[in-house]
Formats: sequence, structure tokens, C-alpha cells
Amino acid sequence: MGNAVYEKLLACKEAVRKVTDFVPDVALILGSGLGNYAENIKIECEISYRDIPGFPVSTVPGHDGKFIFGYLDDVKIVCMKGRVHFYEGYDITDVVLPARLMHMLGAKILFLTNAAGGLGKGFSAGDLMLITDHVSIFAPNPLIGANLDELGPRFPDMSNVYDKDLQEIIKSVAKDNGIKLQEGVYCQLTGPSFESPAEIRLLAGLGVSAVGMSTVNEAIAANHMGMKICGVSCISNLAAGISDVPLCHEEVQEAADKAAPLFTKLVTESIKRFNTID
Ligand code: HPA
Repeated sequence: MGNAVYEKLLACKEAVRKVTDFVPDVALILGSGLGNYAENIKIECEISYRDIPGFPVSTVPGHDGKFIFGYLDDVKIVCMKGRVHFYEGYDITDVVLPARLMHMLGAKILFLTNAAGGLGKGFSAGDLMLITDHVSIFAPNPLIGANLDELGPRFPDMSNVYDKDLQEIIKSVAKDNGIKLQEGVYCQLTGPSFESPAEIRLLAGLGVSAVGMSTVNEAIAANHMGMKICGVSCISNLAAGISDVPLCHEEVQEAADKAAPLFTKLVTESIKRFNTID
């Protein structure tokens, strides 16, 4: 008998291939605030997650999501509108199934985006932050369980998860477009509760600049498969205890929406320049 996680991936791939033979170069996972991103894509095909048997669909009503296949200039991309989080109760292997599937469909680059709480020095709500590294030790590791040898090694190196060339491209796009871009380490926590001020002080001592409830799972799974990875956080709020305003989901969403035009520009122009990378 084969591995159930891998069998499920193969079944999802087959379901997608029944609809489209599009082979993307870049996979883009949209975080809060980038919900309308599809407007930028010359769309070839869309597939609702619900139409892929076994695919994890968000428990939040109206957030079930879809894959969008298409072009940004001549770059072929697959974009995820909507993602599931570990805090929704999914098995961690389901949380990373979409990232694995996009690689199996052909994507060699993964662009991760999210909304995050900021604790870096000089950070303000509305800032964008280039992810230079991550802290994963407070979130479940998606590689626990039998290793999927078809995808990657048992003990993958994590020294350079966020590709240096992709980081340089994103920085140059920010510079050329006058977009302020912070840099720092992103830490994923399980959520769904926000952090306490004591937890944020602890994380600050560990060199963390932004906290959130996604992204690192996918980055680990993608790195395992040898993908080139980059990520940008929208700092939707200052982390707990840094500002005295209590945190709420609506404000996070509102701030992320406000930052969306610049965030969109940074992501789009960067991906268009990714065709210079082999
Ligand atoms: N903490 C965790 N996740 C988040 C935050 C935060 O402050 N803001 C947006 N996502």
C-alpha cells in the first residue's frame, strides 16, 4: 500500500489535469488584503477547491477559494485565492497539500504572502516586510510522519529557505517603485488566539520581527521539494503589547485592505521579473 498523503496528492493532481494542462512557473498564495488580486492576471482557467476531491476547503463561510491559472506578462502563474490554516482543525499535511500540489503541477517558485503582527524596530501598521527567514518551532512541522521520498529528503536543510535572488528582485522592485519595504524574520504560531504581550516580548528576544498564523508550514513543505521561495508580510497591526489597542480580526482585515494597492504592485512587478531567474 502507498502513502495516503501522497496518494491524495496524486488524486488531486489528476483532478486538476482533467480540467487544464496549464503548467505554471510560479505559485502565489494570497494572504489577507490580496483578495482581489485576480484582477491583475490574464486568466486561462479557474478551478474551485470544491471541485478537487479531498482538497482542504476553508471552514469560514464564503472563503472556500479557488486556483487561478494564468499569466502576468509572459510569466505563467497559479494563484491560490483562499488558503486553509492549521487552527481550522486540519491535519498539517492537508494545510500544505496545496503548496505540494502546485509544485507537482510544475511551479518551481513559491511566493508566499500574509498579514502579520509587527514587532520589529520602527515597524508601523501598513508596512510591508520581506521575509528573510522564519521561526517554525512554535508550529507543527508538516514533514512529521513517513517521509514522502518522491518529494524530498527525510532531513531537509533549512539554511536558505528564502531565496537570495528572489529577495534581491523584490527589493529592487520596491526601490524602483518607491515602496517602503521592511525586512525581518517571520514566526508562525498556531493561532487562532492572538499572542499575549509576554509571548511577544519572548519572540522579540528571539529576533522575530513579525508574527502570524500561516506561511511557515508551506515554506517548509516547499523547501523540502526544492522550490525557490520568497515571502512578503503585510504588517496589518502592531503585535500585542506594542500598541495598547486590543487586536481584532476586523481591524487586521481593514489595514490589510488599505495596504493592498502597494502590496499588489510589489507582488506583481516582482513576479514579472522572476523570468530572469533560471
Ligand atoms: N498575530 C498573529 N497573527 C496575525 C496578527 C497578529 O498580531 N496580525 C495578523 N495576523
